[in-house]
Amino acid sequence: MKECERLRTDTVALDESAKKLVIIDQTLLPSEVKLLYLDKIEDIWDAIYTLKVRGAPAIGVAAAIGLYLAADKSRADDYGAFYAEFRKSADYLASSRPTAVNLFWAIERMDAAARRFTGGTIDEIKQALLCEAKAILAEDIEVCAGIGEYGLTLIKDGDGILTHCNAGQLAAVRYGTALAPMHLGAERGMHFRVFTDETRPLLQGARLSAYELTAHGIDTTVICDNMAASVMKNGWVQAVFVGCDRVAANGDAANKIGTLGVAILAAHYNIPFYVCAPLSTIDMRIKDGSEIPIEQRKPEEVTEMWYKKRMAPSGAKVYNPAFDVTEHSLITAFVTERGILRPPFDESIRRVKNGSTAKP
Ligand code: MRU
Repeated sequence: MKECERLRTDTVALDESAKKLVIIDQTLLPSEVKLLYLDKIEDIWDAIYTLKVRGAPAIGVAAAIGLYLAADKSRADDYGAFYAEFRKSADYLASSRPTAVNLFWAIERMDAAARRFTGGTIDEIKQALLCEAKAILAEDIEVCAGIGEYGLTLIKDGDGILTHCNAGQLAAVRYGTALAPMHLGAERGMHFRVFTDETRPLLQGARLSAYELTAHGIDTTVICDNMAASVMKNGWVQAVFVGCDRVAANGDAANKIGTLGVAILAAHYNIPFYVCAPLSTIDMRIKDGSEIPIEQRKPEEVTEMWYKKRMAPSGAKVYNPAFDVTEHSLITAFVTERGILRPPFDESIRRVKNGSTAKP
């Protein structure tokens, strides 16, 4: 995939010689592209919490690099002390956001790397953590490219696609998940018309998806979230592509708040609803969507952010869940790096998580 015009930088990177995590500060987009170079674990925690780096795959990679950087600073000279410090950092980073399982998945992978080298020197363990963080980053690029290829088989030239939130390049290291098919298709000369819900309250669709899609020269229309129904009714949408933050073993999928409404609309208008999911986002420990922890965020994101002055009376209560869960019955298919999973999802998910490729 060619690098796009304006977004030439990977969303998350490790500057190995400076020993810094490098991220694009997404809170400033689209008006400013600013890279942040972070090495303190508190700053990395804050970057995840405040959504400077966001999107399930991207926060997993950022946490893995953050854990390596924290471990690398350790002055401990025996394994017990080193591992105790490592666990403290891991638990701290794990407390930054609750819903995207990729955060915990990446931390667990780093933990396994630290434990594999129990008998080694501290320097060897640090080296193992560096290798694991780099592997997690490299795999993310490969996984997203695979999702892009499989996703592209589901759409054709000229299609209208609706997406919600940002599950693109800015939510992963490169390419993204739900937007990868459009990036890849555009590279190959295909044309799509992408409708991106603005995605209240943090506007990931209007600010981020629209930014990266237009940067790639893809026909992009921003709509307010409450316009999706009429855009579908007009016949402008042939498929919905969204990402996800955690998928339960039965196929219930948590994604940005508002995704559930889009899925219900898509079912009403008979439009296929595709959830793009790296296998790392499928959490087999969770039976169904009711067990997925949903992040609740500050009321001010609803009442004040983006407005010149507060727009709701201070006496009004605010409900601000960051995610909702789409029941598996509303999902047409999951697009993974190992192929397209169709219902019954408990079976197709189990098969692919056990190492098989999806049935064609
Ligand atoms: O709160 P955010 O911006 O981190 O939420 C992001 C999403 O909901 C994405 O759709 C999801 O993480 C998938 S990213 C490939």
